[in-house]
Parts: sequence; C-alpha cells; structure tokens
Amino acid sequence: MKKIINVLLINGPNLNLLGTRETEIYGDETLSHLVNDLKKRSEKLNISLSHIQSNAEHVLIEKIHSSKKDKINYIIINPAAFTHTSIAIRDALIAVDIPFIEVHISNIYARENFRSHSWLSDISKGVITGLGFDGYRWALETISKRCFL
Ligand code: DQA
Repeated sequence: MKKIINVLLINGPNLNLLGTRETEIYGDETLSHLVNDLKKRSEKLNISLSHIQSNAEHVLIEKIHSSKKDKINYIIINPAAFTHTSIAIRDALIAVDIPFIEVHISNIYARENFRSHSWLSDISKGVITGLGFDGYRWALETISKRCFL
C-alpha cells in the first residue's frame, strides 16, 4: 500500500478575500479555487490535504497545536499579516516541531519595509514569496519530493 502524507494548509487573515482583495497584488483567483486545485494535485501526489483559513490568531494556533494528534507530516503556511507580528504562531510551530514551508503570494521584500521581516522564515524549511498562487503548488511538489524519497 502506498504511503499517504498528511499536509495541513494554513491561510491567515484576509486571505478569505482573495479574488477581490487588492487584485493588482494578489490576483483574481479565489481561495476556494486555489484550495480545490491543490486538493486535486494532492490526490495525484498521494497527499491528504486539509485546509484552514482564519482571521483569528488563536484559531490558527489551536489548529497548529492539534496537528500532532492529527498526524500532520508537513505544514504549508501563508500567515499573511501575522508573518510580521506573531511570535505566538512562531512558538506554536516550534512547539509541535512539524516541518513547514512559508508561502507568500506577493514578494514581501518588494513592498513596504515592515513586510520584509518574518517571524517564521528562519525556522521554516523554506520560503516561497512573489510567485503568486504557484508558490503553494511548488510547496506541495517539494513536500511530495521530500517525503517520498
Ligand atoms: C501575504 C503578504 C503579507 O505581507 C500580507 O499581510 C498578506 C499576504 C502574501 O501572501 O503576499 O496578507 O502573506
């Protein structure tokens, strides 16, 4: 029987508005379109993908906490604005010790200075920033390569 990898996709605040929010920066694809596309790709890669989007920091933290019990092998996280503010999300990821890839749709280094600092990057396995929605797809491919080798 082929092994299945459990991946949790986490999207932070305001990403529920993708498709209508600052489309010149984030494009016009919606979050549900993205998640459906990633789920289809996951099936082909023997990945079981679960998803959470929340505008509340504590909800994301509690989901990270339950990841151990949920047997999550890898996390893909776009923490959105919490990237630049949340030591609590950093601590949660360290506490569960599950490898993760940080994704940003826009290039956070080409925008306002305050976006250039991430509280997660140094503890991540890698960061994909500025590749639009493809960043999530590359993260999935990378996880598949790493986990099935
Ligand atoms: C973002 C970049 C963040 O700076 C911003 O707060 C977001 C989205 C991105 O995907 O480009 O909400 O994480």
